[in-house]
Amino acid sequence: MRVRAAVHRDIDVARIDNRLYSAFIEHMGRAIYSGIYEPGHPEADAHGFRRDVAAMVRDLQIPAIRYPGGNFVSAYRWEDGIGPKEDRPVRLDLAWRSKETNQVGINEFAVWAQDVDIEMMLAVNLGSRGLEEARDFVEYVNHPSGTYWSDLRRSHGVENPYDVKMWCLGNEMDGPWQIGHKEAKEYGRLADETAKALKALTPDAELIVCGSSNDEMPTYPDWEREVLEECYENVHYISLHKYFGNSSNDTLNFFGKVEETGRYIQSIAGVIDFVKAKKRAKNDVHICFDEWNVWYHIREEDSRRWHSWDWPEAPDLLEENYNFEDALFVASLLNEFIRRSDRVKIACIAQLVNVIAPIRAERGGPAWRQTIYWPYQMASLYGRGKALRVAVDGPTYDCHVADDVNYLDASAVHDDAGGALTLFLVNRHLSEPADLRFELTGFAGATIEFHKTMAGHDLRATNGPGREDIAMAQGSGLGVEDGVLGGSLPPLSYHVVRLR
Ligand code: AHR
Repeated sequence: MRVRAAVHRDIDVARIDNRLYSAFIEHMGRAIYSGIYEPGHPEADAHGFRRDVAAMVRDLQIPAIRYPGGNFVSAYRWEDGIGPKEDRPVRLDLAWRSKETNQVGINEFAVWAQDVDIEMMLAVNLGSRGLEEARDFVEYVNHPSGTYWSDLRRSHGVENPYDVKMWCLGNEMDGPWQIGHKEAKEYGRLADETAKALKALTPDAELIVCGSSNDEMPTYPDWEREVLEECYENVHYISLHKYFGNSSNDTLNFFGKVEETGRYIQSIAGVIDFVKAKKRAKNDVHICFDEWNVWYHIREEDSRRWHSWDWPEAPDLLEENYNFEDALFVASLLNEFIRRSDRVKIACIAQLVNVIAPIRAERGGPAWRQTIYWPYQMASLYGRGKALRVAVDGPTYDCHVADDVNYLDASAVHDDAGGALTLFLVNRHLSEPADLRFELTGFAGATIEFHKTMAGHDLRATNGPGREDIAMAQGSGLGVEDGVLGGSLPPLSYHVVRLR
């Protein structure tokens, strides 16, 4: 198939907020325990954190990480995780029917986050608890000294406050499964009052209010409208969550879910604009897509297990094995976030280690990178700067979730400080190569600095411990002539082309 595409150096969508490439990690399954933290493991450091996992995390250059939940946070007592480890209570985690030992709490997590150079984005419990505990938590974390909570932190060996800016006001409060689930108005009021208290403690806090758990919730998108009507002026972001799957074994429809996500983003942007107009507000509210990933391979099986198991500690849970098809999907979804970086400022892959994650770590054994690690890493490393508007003129297809889906999926990022232009391309055609002609206006003299690709794998192929065959490889077959990038992209392939 022939595909024409074009970018212009001066025609951009927005400056990308680096936090578009953030992550999420929850106290569930083996994400924390035997994921990032495993005292006694040969790779454990003095704090019990795994060096092998930390190295893989560092290579992703993640700007921010959302913690500690997720559904977990809605029945969590943050105070259980502070003070001498031997005095910490073991509790029942109501969200995942597991035992929580509290051996990792805010101070341990902060040590890890600092070590891997990631900013913390913390969630408060607005399910089983409320404003009062949220306020205590923020005071413990952010107040310098001279008060009960700040001096308690200092007595725990943390002299300086963490100065955490990003605070999530609960998690998925629209979901009937959530401990302390609320109606929209009820939650909106609580979020507003909590936001006011948090801003009193940390005036430059960035507050994230819960949107719908996904765009199939019966209350979507009224939920967003009702919640924002209560708290618009006091919050900075509204969260979106969406998980994806290909249970019907229809690859093109799976890929079409990226366009469906574009509609979701556009709809919420419309709701934000509506409420802003209705309130005659001056401030903007942006989108924080703080949970996204593929989650379907073992979802049902897991659900059958954990609903009836006997409160295990750090059980195997949501340990999806990602294949090549998932990597192509993730590459396209990240392209969509880049294309919508005018409205989506923060996005978090959910999650980071073991639980629906790009990194896996065997208990007592090796760590390894899943297929989806690579597109996530490519976007994080090379997708910083200005998102340019990309025009694509090529064959399209219709599927169950969307019509007119371009086989060629593309985004472009101009690192205007460093001078590089990076193109992220996915040929989603099942059998035909894309004969590409990509016009690069304003980039006279640019040549290819590198071309990395993922191609030629069976869609169902996966990586495993000591077996990371599905990874970025050196690309070939593309060249630039007279400001036009041309060449052939094989069917079902992903490309990162950096020009300078
Ligand atoms: O990431 C797994 C779970 O998915 C989170 O705990 C919850 O917020 C979402 O439903």
